[in-house]
Amino acid sequence: MTAPLLPSRLPIAAAPMAGGPTTTALAAAVAEAGGFAFLAAGYKTPEALSAEISVMRAAGLPFGVNLFVPAPGTVDAAAFRAYARQLQPEAERYGLTLSEQPVVDDDYWEEKLALLTQDPVDVVSLTFGLPVPSDIAALQAVGTTVLASVTTPEEAHQAQAAGVDGLVVQGPQAGGHSATFDPARRIEPVSTEDLVRSVSAETGLPLIAAGGVDGPAVVRALLAAGAQAVAVGTLLLGTNEAGTSPTHRAALTDDAFTETVLTRAFTGRPARALRNGFIDRHEPRALNAYPAVHHLTRALRQAAGKAGDAGTVHLWAGTGWRGAPSGPAAGVVGWLAGEQPRPGQSTQ
Ligand SMILES: Cc1cc2nc3c(=O)[nH]c(=O)nc-3n(C[C@H](O)[C@H](O)[C@H](O)COP(=O)(O)O)c2cc1C
Repeated sequence: MTAPLLPSRLPIAAAPMAGGPTTTALAAAVAEAGGFAFLAAGYKTPEALSAEISVMRAAGLPFGVNLFVPAPGTVDAAAFRAYARQLQPEAERYGLTLSEQPVVDDDYWEEKLALLTQDPVDVVSLTFGLPVPSDIAALQAVGTTVLASVTTPEEAHQAQAAGVDGLVVQGPQAGGHSATFDPARRIEPVSTEDLVRSVSAETGLPLIAAGGVDGPAVVRALLAAGAQAVAVGTLLLGTNEAGTSPTHRAALTDDAFTETVLTRAFTGRPARALRNGFIDRHEPRALNAYPAVHHLTRALRQAAGKAGDAGTVHLWAGTGWRGAPSGPAAGVVGWLAGEQPRPGQSTQ
């Protein structure tokens, strides 16, 4: 019998959602309801992450931390300039001038690793690739369970070779960024359930499934396929405790949005979002250049979000978005675990 990856009563996890939706209030509510919650360290300073860890510790609740693994890579300066110029008219509407100089950073990788080895947490999940195996070993040496997010059996094999304790198997129906190690690749359609079966059969590693959950039936199917737990993101976006912006919340229940698509237009890395005008206008010329494109569009997206301009902002959502309930997050956890009926549908 494999030891459980997550120390929670229920096999439901709050997936990490950087950029606002994951809050300590959401993580605490999910943990109190019997699920397991990941804090989203992505885009945060080490100080901000440390403050969130302190809040969870003070509440005495188990939790994990999710890190973005930096990827080496160069940006084609001419292509970047051309994309910046293409986006400039969008920025002008908000009085912004986009920099044609690409900014590439490592999201404070070393500093966050140092924090998590000095002040260990139960679980660390990694996304966007693998660090050097010694970084994984350093976290394990302080008692942390290390999980790698993977999107193909091949990535799962690489993660296994790097020494992780388990996997987060993310299907392409997932909201937000794809965890893929190779953001330039074509993301092949596959159900999360099939992906879980193949990764489980090929690696034998314990795993958590994520991507496209729209209710308890999918949770049951993913557990039956071999997952120890199921992580959900989109279904928590409309809950009271989530830090989802009002523009994003409203879009999730707006009938004007009819589908989700994978796009590189906002950040330079494939991510699933509600299809809007920005994607239609810019996806054809979008670059594979994360995090440079993320930094390029950041101020524009913030301004558009504040202004309620749902046609310009990134509206991350998985294919199950229509089922996202409103109300307390505990209701979503209980519903997905089969313990209680479906909570109220989000009315924004
Ligand atoms: C708004 C949003 C932000 C996300 N941010 C992160 C993140 O910081 N780190 C990460 O590993 N995954 C992130 N994801 C992906 C989720 O962790 C998870 O894989 C996904 O939400 C599961 O699919 P679902 O949205 O269909 O439930 C994000 C997803 C969303 C919707």
